[in-house]
Amino acid sequence: MGIFDRHRQLLESYRMMRATGEDPLTVTMDRVLSPTEAIINGRKTLLVGTNNYFGLTFDPVCVEAAIEATRDEGTGTTGSRIANGNYAQHAALEAELAEFYGMKHCMVTTTGYQANLGIISTLVGDGDYLVIDADSHASIYDACKQTQATIIRFKHNDPASLEARLRRLKDEPGNKVVVVEGIYSMLGDTAPLKPFVEITKRYGGYIVVDEAHSLGALGEHGRGLVEQVGVLDQVDFVVGTFSKTLGSIGGFCVSNHDGFEVLRIATRAYMFTASLPPSIIASVRAALKIVRRDGAKLRTRLWDNVATLYDGLAAAGFQLGPEHGPVVAVVMPDQMTTVGVWRALLEAGVYVNVAVPPATPGGLCLLRCSLSSAHSRGQLKHVVEVLTGIGRQFGLLPAERVRAVAGG
Ligand SMILES: Cc1ncc(COP(=O)(O)O)c(C=O)c1O
Repeated sequence: MGIFDRHRQLLESYRMMRATGEDPLTVTMDRVLSPTEAIINGRKTLLVGTNNYFGLTFDPVCVEAAIEATRDEGTGTTGSRIANGNYAQHAALEAELAEFYGMKHCMVTTTGYQANLGIISTLVGDGDYLVIDADSHASIYDACKQTQATIIRFKHNDPASLEARLRRLKDEPGNKVVVVEGIYSMLGDTAPLKPFVEITKRYGGYIVVDEAHSLGALGEHGRGLVEQVGVLDQVDFVVGTFSKTLGSIGGFCVSNHDGFEVLRIATRAYMFTASLPPSIIASVRAALKIVRRDGAKLRTRLWDNVATLYDGLAAAGFQLGPEHGPVVAVVMPDQMTTVGVWRALLEAGVYVNVAVPPATPGGLCLLRCSLSSAHSRGQLKHVVEVLTGIGRQFGLLPAERVRAVAGG
């Protein structure tokens, strides 16, 4: 067997995807112009799939902070946090994040992926139980592969299913760590977090909440679903990323548990990789300040935009993810249609994400849109119009609904 033969099936489906035109997995932004526009294939394209929820990638204060930090401290740390890569700025950002969540401890990692991979896999070990939602992000599944703990999955967003799993474990001596997400990245649905926390605590477990897509977007102060449903003081660990609302790259975990700091000398994905460069830390600190100062205004804009896109596409007859949210998933009938509609959208100057199995729950094929407070209502109305026209060409929409939308 050749070294790559084990991937033959994957390669075959990828070849099929590429055979008919532009490859959604290698599309290149020739030049990014703003949080909502880029040049792709020589054409000005509207970006509706970037997770840039507050549009902070071009914020002048964040940009300047990054430039200044590069001048002051160089382009990179060239080492990990436990060696030469531990700068005062890292600790300052950790203190600010801990304060933002009202928690005692915070650890910053080089990516959000590594926060989940490293911290979740380190919290549990032989004899413990990691109890995860079946639709968990790849980084959570990869944490499962790195631990000796027993992995147990429960039905997506189903408190009864979680309870059944924990009930079965109630006489087992090991720690039980439950992992859920604030907003799920593919369908954009939120977790029933209140019952999840209640059940976990009743059975003596710990709960980790990944707020990758909900930081900034949810909660009175942007602290995510934990704040929105009033369980911030009951959850054990909040994990998040800098690569979405905060417009950069990196990850973090906050907690109130004494003993948390041991993770710095036990988490391999923290210890054995270079720390974030000064420019990133500086822009994230600036972005966090903006979230704290202007979050309410940016959130209102974001949710207005969510309503424009979600309601517009629903009225046109598209099948969407179950609830309003910064991720709007449009359900497609199969992979070929997904890629076909995606290409037609790109040719019409609109970029969204293709999401197909195995990355999606339930084998769904999706066009995944993500919104930004930086989008204008006009831009999103345009997306509804363009997608409706393409949906009609592909026979995805009932004709009478198309007429009603066009008339209205
Ligand atoms: C739910 C969830 N957790 C973690 C991550 C990883 O974050 P990052 O891309 O910043 O490494 C992602 C990224 O898409 C995500 O969607």
